[in-house]
Amino acid sequence: MTVTAVSTFQAPKGTYDLLPPDSATFLAVREAIAAPVRRAGYGYVETPGFEHVELFSRGVGESTDIVTKEMYAFTTKGGTDLALRPEGTASVLRAALQANLHRAGNLPVKLWYSGSYYRYENPQAGRYRHFSQVGAEAIGAEDPALDAELIILAADAYRSLGLTGFRLLLNSLGDKECRPAYRAALQEFLRGLDLDDDTRKRIEINPLRVLDDKRESVQRQLTGAPLIVDHLCEACKEYHERVRELLTAAGVAYEDDPRLVRGLDYYTRTTFEFVHDALGSQSAVGGGGRYDGLSEMIGGPSLPSVGWALGVDRTVLALKAEGVELPLPAATDVYAVPLGDQARRTLFALVTELRRAGVAADFAFGGKGIKNAMKSADRSGARFAVVAGDRDLAEGVVQLKDLVSGEQGPVALSEVADTVKERLV
Ligand code: HAM
Repeated sequence: MTVTAVSTFQAPKGTYDLLPPDSATFLAVREAIAAPVRRAGYGYVETPGFEHVELFSRGVGESTDIVTKEMYAFTTKGGTDLALRPEGTASVLRAALQANLHRAGNLPVKLWYSGSYYRYENPQAGRYRHFSQVGAEAIGAEDPALDAELIILAADAYRSLGLTGFRLLLNSLGDKECRPAYRAALQEFLRGLDLDDDTRKRIEINPLRVLDDKRESVQRQLTGAPLIVDHLCEACKEYHERVRELLTAAGVAYEDDPRLVRGLDYYTRTTFEFVHDALGSQSAVGGGGRYDGLSEMIGGPSLPSVGWALGVDRTVLALKAEGVELPLPAATDVYAVPLGDQARRTLFALVTELRRAGVAADFAFGGKGIKNAMKSADRSGARFAVVAGDRDLAEGVVQLKDLVSGEQGPVALSEVADTVKERLV
């Protein structure tokens, strides 16, 4: 047997660990995105991290990058073809259909979720193979107010975080009435351009995606491309106008972007993306739209729906770029420093009592000397240190030190919890 040196493991390429103190910002961002949707009647849904691969190939689209290049697909020992979820919409709709939520009579079914998603992408700043989204879906209703509601909730979430540098791009992709004629007109235009073989193939399978090609050489040729806005049917035009009016009435600014096509095939009518200009090429912090045909594509009844997903990782990057510090609650309010064995027992019991009373408390574990223990108290971010030795305890008191002002004085052991609670507010 050859002995190889054991090197420490690294997280896989395209992934990173969330560690304190930064992880607190992630939790706060998830919470801030979830708060507005909860207030709007969305219920929490959690689905498995993997699904039958066909759910995504049919739902997200056979020709999309997500399905053809980026899916973590595998066959189980039992021979089932599964994939780590690359997005949440298909799974959430699958779950709602499976549980017959749409038959309970209360449409739309409003659901929100938060979790990890996986795409085998080329990693770069803001683009990871494992990332985190918070999403919201409203299933089973066609109403411009519902599209507007979701967009307003997302804009409010960003605003509540203190972000100001984001923009909302808005478009309509038409429906099954007007999209086919537009698609044909676009194909005809694209076939006349000087494009490579892969892009030519894309023209035949999914011509709208060509509009999204980031290469300058392609973009230059797209100047005169037909735009969907000029091909919308009356019903789609009217619907889009209503969404725009409602956004304006709610004070949510948007930019019409007739070139906005999203990377997933299920969209119809309203599509939108939130972009942040400080993030470079991976500027989309969130996106979504209406997907009126998805339910039928995955074997369900007709259920027009709309939703979005906001990227948590990129929202955190946007906060950093804007220099926004979230007001995070202190991890520890009180740090207990015992001097001697008797004090260890008494203060350990006090820490338990404080926690049960709702005060965040920590303890100088590991038998540190006073100097080290006081350093730990400072580093913990606690507002107070509780210090006690045998002499204090004989008198039934501890020393309560305010680590901000430096003030210190005795407090009866039985009154520490109440005193601290009073002084923390
Ligand atoms: P999406 O645009 O693919 O839409 O993803 C939404 C957001 O997730 C993006 O705007 C971005 O912030 C974040 N994101 C996507 N891929 C990555 C990545 N590789 N690394 C970091 N962040 C990423 C959807 O997923 C749709 N399911 C949204 C939706 C919901 N449409 C209707 N309902």
